[in-house]
Amino acid sequence: MTRVFPEGFVWGSATASYQIEGGATEDGRGPSIWDTYSHTPGRTLNGDTGDVAADHYHRWREDLGHIAELGLSAYRFSISWPRVQPGGSGAFNRAGLDFYSRLVDGLLERGVRPVATMYHWDLPQELEDAGGWPARDTALRFQEYAAGIVEALGDRVHTWTTFNEPWCSAYLGYGSGVHAPGRTEPAGALAAVHHLNLAHGLAGRVVRELAPAAELSVTLNLHVVRPASGSAADADAVRRIDALANRAFLGPLLDGAYPADLLADTAKVTDWSFVRDGDERTIAVPLDVLGVNYYSTTLVRAWDGVSARSDNDGHGSSAHTPWVGADDVDFLPQPGPYTAMGWNIEPAGLTELLLRLHREHPGLPLMITENGAAFDDVVTPDGRVHDERRLDYLYRHIDAVGAAMDAGADVRGYFVWSLLDNFEWAWGYDRRFGIIRVDYDTQERIWKDSAHWYRALAATGRLEP
Ligand code: NOJ
Repeated sequence: MTRVFPEGFVWGSATASYQIEGGATEDGRGPSIWDTYSHTPGRTLNGDTGDVAADHYHRWREDLGHIAELGLSAYRFSISWPRVQPGGSGAFNRAGLDFYSRLVDGLLERGVRPVATMYHWDLPQELEDAGGWPARDTALRFQEYAAGIVEALGDRVHTWTTFNEPWCSAYLGYGSGVHAPGRTEPAGALAAVHHLNLAHGLAGRVVRELAPAAELSVTLNLHVVRPASGSAADADAVRRIDALANRAFLGPLLDGAYPADLLADTAKVTDWSFVRDGDERTIAVPLDVLGVNYYSTTLVRAWDGVSARSDNDGHGSSAHTPWVGADDVDFLPQPGPYTAMGWNIEPAGLTELLLRLHREHPGLPLMITENGAAFDDVVTPDGRVHDERRLDYLYRHIDAVGAAMDAGADVRGYFVWSLLDNFEWAWGYDRRFGIIRVDYDTQERIWKDSAHWYRALAATGRLEP
């Protein structure tokens, strides 16, 4: 069946500063936790770093050309905090602000809506040295940073997204340590959850005040968690992971409070005394749109303490779990097919997630701010990349978005991850998510078949089987 998306539905693509920019020491940029982490032996595959990445810092004009050529109506990028405020506090770096100002103007000139993420994981190293996200002061520094960038770019930015996937920053950065800064402190991970939420609320108020015409959003990687069986114990495992993964953010952001079961489940880890009076009110600043990143599903069971564990949570192996306080939950492998990340392909999970949000938060507009897949691409002798599996993945997931819309979900748009191949964090350059290939030897950009296909979709809004 051909699906026709409504007029005005946003077709975009997404990237993030550390993953594409390079120019890591140029024009006054300071170091971030990802510079430190990727330069630490053993932290990333092949020791890859974002020093050069896709060299977008120098090739941004060319990349804008690709965005325009694709006919996208929006582009989601992130601002590197250490590029615009190198030490994470105090003076701003004019050259850094100018870079994003030119980018935003370049998008507007081409009729593309700028969607700016304030934080896509590159915390200034100085702030990490002062305690990082487990420290409350980092949230206050973030408010100051937000004021600086919103003042500079204001409502030329159509949508301000405070955070990208705070789940990853908190639990992978401070719980399992497979992301920067690589700390493994269960209580610290939960304190980070709170301070990221708090920083969202503080920055959200800055947007409201300084750029009243702009939209305010946050992007979450909500987990679709399913039980291995119909047992009550497995249902409880789902509830616990749902609390840590989803309701730890949705609760304060949308309902103004942390869920009671989350506090009870994690009572052995922390007493949550870092939540101060009034914080939850601050966090619940009304959103214009909720960003949803979706890739895969999660299957859990209650662990009996005896049988072998699978520990297949899809977020990189580590001796430490990101699921602090849930040691008795096991993450099971799922039926394929899989992407090159080893993630199972399950488009129905996206429909399910969107309908859950629609049910629990009626009236809140939704935006798919990331969806996409890594596969082992091959350049054929004709110089092309026939990435039928990525194309099929995109087709199925966009179809799943359409199905959710048919059932009532208010979805405003879709951003493919990613515009370009880029630095896939701990996996370095080995995993390619782009619809445009980057040859890292020459920095040449080559449109994959999926890019040609996506261009036709963006032009017509018609999803043809
Ligand atoms: C989510 C993150 O926001 C992005 O940085 C990452 O590259 C993709 N998922 C793929 O893992």
